[in-house]
Amino acid sequence: MQKIVDDIAAQMASKIEKGTVASYIPQLACVNPDQFSISVALADGSLFNAGCAQTLFSIQSISKVFTLTLALGKLGERVWNRVGREPSGDPFNSIVQLEHEQGKPRNPFVNAGAIAIADAIIQGHQPKETLAEILQFMRFLADDESIAINEKVAHSEELTGERNASLAHFMASFGHFQNPVDAVLGTYFHHCSIAMNTVQLATAGLFLANSGVNPATGYRVVSSKRARRINSLMLMCGHYDGSGEFAYRVGLPGKSGVGGGILAIAPGNASIAVWSPGLDTIGNSKLGTEALELLTQKTGWSVF
Ligand code: DON
Repeated sequence: MQKIVDDIAAQMASKIEKGTVASYIPQLACVNPDQFSISVALADGSLFNAGCAQTLFSIQSISKVFTLTLALGKLGERVWNRVGREPSGDPFNSIVQLEHEQGKPRNPFVNAGAIAIADAIIQGHQPKETLAEILQFMRFLADDESIAINEKVAHSEELTGERNASLAHFMASFGHFQNPVDAVLGTYFHHCSIAMNTVQLATAGLFLANSGVNPATGYRVVSSKRARRINSLMLMCGHYDGSGEFAYRVGLPGKSGVGGGILAIAPGNASIAVWSPGLDTIGNSKLGTEALELLTQKTGWSVF
């Protein structure tokens, strides 16, 4: 496996077209695009890295996998009263479906869906307490107490978050929110701004590759049925209107973030985190996707 990840990192280093770094969140625009890392955490707990696997990046929408997991733990199947389970076929920040679908987002991974999930997990607490809970969950999953929120990124998101604010207020106008819109948005912006490296992210995803149990720590995080279901959502909705293309090319459940990270799950085999800040036109990591495509070609891990 070490040779495979080394080969992939070498191939990515030679690419000229690396995509474009997200600029609508100004802090993300400062990131050097010439960076790549890959970490493969195998279901037996062993870990293989290449590239700058210790460098922290903004996990952005990848955090939505973990807030969904928390929401399912708190609300169980009632989560599906708040968000659907269908791919949207629209960009991650689209508002169009909300009007025709009574303010209920198509899935928990589009921005509107993740904002609704943030409302669901606050449950009348202070955003600070909810964020502490999300961070504690990430540290527990990654077995690493150092994981933290990048406050600069969170502030940058808050300053330029008009689109997300529109989504939140629009949903609130249907009477769906249980908490003040500002508290929900603050929670959402901050969980998107968690900084992690690929080692931490691959470890944190292991429970999804191992029927709900994290083999690195031995803890059961969710039932095997729930792990399967979260994977199915990642496969169908994890790359927004690029989910079909990602399934076609990579063939794994995956969740992307505009920070350039992707968490991909090879059920029964591995949890894989890749990072390269340059994005394709849809907003998913360009080299990250290419690296995962190579990995599944070399390992045969595609679920198809
Ligand atoms: O709300 C946003 O726009 C960002 N915090 C997250 C978007 C994102 O990561 C989309 N993924 N590719």
